[in-house]
Amino acid sequence: MKKMFKTQDIFNAPFVTMIGKTAANMYRLGYDERNSGNISILLDESEAAKYLDLRNVKREIPIGFNAKELAGRILIVTASGSYFKNIAAAPAENLGIIRISPDGKTAELLWGLNGGGRLTSEFPAHVMSHVSRLSVDPNNRVILHCHPTNILAMTFVHELSEKKFTHTLWQMCTESIMIFPDGIGLLPWMVCGTNEIGEATAEKMKEFRLVVWAMHGIYGSGRSLDEAFGLIETAEKAAQIYLLTAHLPRINAITDEQLKALAESLKLDYRKDFFEETNK
Ligand code: 13P
Ligand code: ZN
Repeated sequence: MKKMFKTQDIFNAPFVTMIGKTAANMYRLGYDERNSGNISILLDESEAAKYLDLRNVKREIPIGFNAKELAGRILIVTASGSYFKNIAAAPAENLGIIRISPDGKTAELLWGLNGGGRLTSEFPAHVMSHVSRLSVDPNNRVILHCHPTNILAMTFVHELSEKKFTHTLWQMCTESIMIFPDGIGLLPWMVCGTNEIGEATAEKMKEFRLVVWAMHGIYGSGRSLDEAFGLIETAEKAAQIYLLTAHLPRINAITDEQLKALAESLKLDYRKDFFEETNK
């Protein structure tokens, strides 16, 4: 007799409910209008197996690049076109759980993407960024992309130098250098949804946990959704302060000496070269 496979209800899985809650928060903060933004989380096989029969592949989705570094790894990822405000109410339509095939060329759909849904158009940037982040932090699990208003606006009026952009954000809130002492990577405007922007993002992700796409949005990474989201909201808050004050005479400032004193007192491994005058 065939052994029955008893699994828990996936709609109550923390990784499903947490994505719904985070996506709704991001929608309300104005980071994710319409279908903008995408999320991916690496799942441990044992965690996924509590909810799914991992032998049951529902669909094979060609991914258009080689992801062999993640062969066999399982990810939960947002669907292309999914509205962040709707994920919590309809997770099976707006999310998919996939496993990267042994040859790295296919996503094996294990759950979700109901109604013929597709993986986010930024799947290359997500997968390639996971590979980069894992190479520097084996515990990284999350890649998060969104369109926060002030970061995006800032890329229209601020020099697009990683050094200068990071330095300005550090100056805007005391917390900035504490939360992202490693700075922010920056890419020029590029066509989104391509392997090329994925490769460029992943290259930056070897050095930074935050990467801004000029005139488009931002990528954050972390060991948890909260960590990736926290990085983005801290940068976004600093960008808001910058834009609120950019046209006003500045009569007070956090000096470089003060920022360095803070970083030294917390023993932060901060980008000392980002205090230099030269451009990058
Ligand atoms: P998707 O709906 O395909 O995830 O795209 C949203 C987005 O932000 C593209 O950069
Ligand atoms: Zn986007």
